[in-house]
Amino acid sequence: MAHDTGLFSGRPSELIGRQIAGYRIEREIGRGGMAVVYRARDLRLERTVALKLLAPELARNDTFRLRFTHESRAAAAIDHPHIVPVFEAGETDGILYIAMRYVEGRDLRHLLDRRGPLAFAVTLRIAAQIASALDAAHEHGLVHRDVKPGNILVARGTDSDHPEHAYLTDFGLTKKSLSLTGFTSVGQFVGTLDYVAPEQIAGRPVDGRCDVYGFACVVYECLTGRPPFRRDDDMALLWAHQYDQPPPPTELRPDLAPETDAVFAKALAKTPEDRHPSCRTFITALRTTTVPPPLEHPPTEVDLRPPTGDNPLKPPPRWAAPVFRDRS
Ligand SMILES: Nc1ncnc2c1ncn2[C@@H]1O[C@H](COP(=O)(O)OP(=O)(O)O)[C@@H](O)[C@H]1O
Ligand SMILES: [Mg+2]
Repeated sequence: MAHDTGLFSGRPSELIGRQIAGYRIEREIGRGGMAVVYRARDLRLERTVALKLLAPELARNDTFRLRFTHESRAAAAIDHPHIVPVFEAGETDGILYIAMRYVEGRDLRHLLDRRGPLAFAVTLRIAAQIASALDAAHEHGLVHRDVKPGNILVARGTDSDHPEHAYLTDFGLTKKSLSLTGFTSVGQFVGTLDYVAPEQIAGRPVDGRCDVYGFACVVYECLTGRPPFRRDDDMALLWAHQYDQPPPPTELRPDLAPETDAVFAKALAKTPEDRHPSCRTFITALRTTTVPPPLEHPPTEVDLRPPTGDNPLKPPPRWAAPVFRDRS
């Protein structure tokens, strides 16, 4: 038994240098509630990959296994510049694994934690890429179900016109829609409830519009520095998603155009039918809100102070630079 869970013993250093399903583990990149991601070497093709090992309990959950197989296949079939390509998904020693392209960069969670809210233009650039990825997935009949900053990877773009290249990852890897069919199993919940759509919470069937909601929560956080709802416990947060109105984003960030509030009110509507029909239409609506002109003067010391995550009332500097600066 101990041998069974050896691959996932929680001591990642033990795996470094080991070979799993044809991949040599090089180092841990990160871990979420249900998986550990490693940088690894694909020994057959001699290339670097990101190897994700899922928690053993997921392999024992038949519903999850079925969906894992089905959705890994579906995700692998989508060839999209803003979806992390899946190379292989399988099982070894009772552990489900996914090998995918290694993205050299940072996830959006990390960027938001470190930099606070992003400039409107940067948010739009990243969001437009993710919107196109989500809509492509929906056109393939695939719903992501776990759109959150940790599943958006931001790498250096190609040039100064495209300073960032954003990737969406982790299709169908959430346990949410399996466990959120009632409030009973919420106690076992892993991960975040900040981006979960009301219909997912209620256990109703979900479609692409559940991703519109989750995605709108992410974009809201990019602009304001906090997700639409903050509550002291999970139950209150689930309640808020279902019944409360989020603070209008302009309250938290007064430099946003007034029309921004209506765009978010629609994208975050409780009923899927009331939302934008796609992620791109949401982003198009956001783009057409009037963008305030950039500051005329160079950044002052006050402008240069990093935005304080704890004080959402203080607007972030408007001049905020791209995530990656041009190399030249
Ligand atoms: N293909 C990838 N390339 C590079 N880093 C990755 C890749 N996939 C995931 N990561 C990193 O590993 C971290 C852990 O991933 P994951 O287990 O999915 O947790 P979560 O999505 O909850 O953050 C991610 O936040 C990300 O920084
Ligand atoms: Mg993830």
